[in-house]
Amino acid sequence: MPLHDSELVLIFDFGSQYGQLIARRVREQNVFCQIVRHDLGAERVAELKPRGLIFSGGPASVYTPGAPLCDPKLFDLGIPILGICYGMQLACQALGGAVKPSGSREFGRAHCRVLENDTLFAGVPEETIVWMSHGDQVQAVAGDFVPLASTDTCPIAAVRHRSRPVFGLQFHPEVSHTPYGSRILRNFLHDVCGCQGQWRMDSFIEQSVAELRQRIGQHRVICGLSGGVDSSVTAALLIKAVGPQVACIFVDNGLLRQGEAEAVRRTFRDNFHADLHVVDARERFLKALAGVSDPQEKRRIIGHVFIDVFKDEALHIENAHFLAQGTLYPDVIESGAAVDGAAATIKTHHNVGGLPKELGFELIEPLRDLFKDEVRRLGLELGLPESTVWRHPFPGPGLAVRCLGTITAERLETLRQADAIMLDELKQAGWYRQTAQAFAVLLPVQSVGVMGDGRTYENVIALRAVQTDDFMTADWSHLPYELLAKISTRIINNVSGVNRVVYDVSSKPPATIEWE
Ligand code: XMP
Repeated sequence: MPLHDSELVLIFDFGSQYGQLIARRVREQNVFCQIVRHDLGAERVAELKPRGLIFSGGPASVYTPGAPLCDPKLFDLGIPILGICYGMQLACQALGGAVKPSGSREFGRAHCRVLENDTLFAGVPEETIVWMSHGDQVQAVAGDFVPLASTDTCPIAAVRHRSRPVFGLQFHPEVSHTPYGSRILRNFLHDVCGCQGQWRMDSFIEQSVAELRQRIGQHRVICGLSGGVDSSVTAALLIKAVGPQVACIFVDNGLLRQGEAEAVRRTFRDNFHADLHVVDARERFLKALAGVSDPQEKRRIIGHVFIDVFKDEALHIENAHFLAQGTLYPDVIESGAAVDGAAATIKTHHNVGGLPKELGFELIEPLRDLFKDEVRRLGLELGLPESTVWRHPFPGPGLAVRCLGTITAERLETLRQADAIMLDELKQAGWYRQTAQAFAVLLPVQSVGVMGDGRTYENVIALRAVQTDDFMTADWSHLPYELLAKISTRIINNVSGVNRVVYDVSSKPPATIEWE
């Protein structure tokens, strides 16, 4: 059994918006966990031998017909269960408690009084703040349950069962607004479930390396590098496992940020001594994109040319049997594949989606159990430079969707220079890590200006910087005026053909992060 499964916790998903957050909080306690369907059967659960089960919250009411329920036999397995919000109501109802709509719905901060602090609440002050979000609550628990905490409007804010290892929390321990939430989760994981916290990056590496070696054998693995974090960490892990059997393909499509191709060369050829195939396809992409200004058409063309170029190179690599891809756990969850952690279909990477099948490769996804922050830690542990590990995400079509209008080598160069200045200034000012994504956009308009004694009619650069955790919604970054001024001056003074810089102050939604 894989080492990281030896202390497995399963999170049953009842439709909570916080499912992934619960999983991350559990992992922060060095306990490996996976999100599973709410109706996963007790037999399968017993096979997986988890140390504990967590029932998530959810939008339904446990007493309405059709509400998602769990297999009632789960309660007979003797495995510790922690129900959160809906999960608590479900567990209490299943074991004889009564759940009803509460007199007042409760959302947000609540003052919580701890009534018993020897188990779940060990180390939590008697009066503490918790984060509530519920319309229903457990009204009465049969004599089998002991109330552990209460709030003004919710007399049974936490419970434990007298004879079974079943606990419930009406509030959300996983959100940062519950200051002692991680302590409560820790108590459950360590003291109730008996987990020791063996989920660590070094043991993950050790385990993955052993598994990869066994699976790959003497074959070769192809790993597409984009310069981004996920593909770089995938490659670094594979190189650690099977060294020269890995062939890395990096397609220089001419749509990259300044210095990106050199950085990939330095890291992988010079530091990791990888078999790195850099394909110079700049001309090919530029030709295919000539005269195209429609963004979706740009994406379509880039996708096709990429596959052709990648395929040409991949076919030259003898004995290649596997193709590695940097799929992460959130992709697996979003695709609905995280049914019970076993194999299932996953969302394929937009760039190489059809490739494995078309070329007859078997897919390898060594990061599919990891969250982004874990991938970053793994990258650092594997010796990747900080600049790679913390690099902002970059779209597959690259600068093509930031060079609004038609694409020429000259326009790309203007954009690349402006973008490099922006990133450099952000880094110097300590703002790069405080923004999730920042970049320059070259607009397809000219504006009037004066330089010296002359009138100019030149290009406009828009600057974009956003804060976001999930890239689904984003707020524009409130960069200091002085920093914006510095970036603007440097761009106008140094990038020929630009006489105006503007800052994008739109949030997503309704705007998107990219301009195209
Ligand atoms: P939007 O612009 O939709 O961007 O708010 C959300 C995130 O997705 C990235 N993005 C792309 N990534 N191919 C990619 O690989 C694309 O065509 C693409 N379009 C947007 C964008 O950079 C941001 O991180």
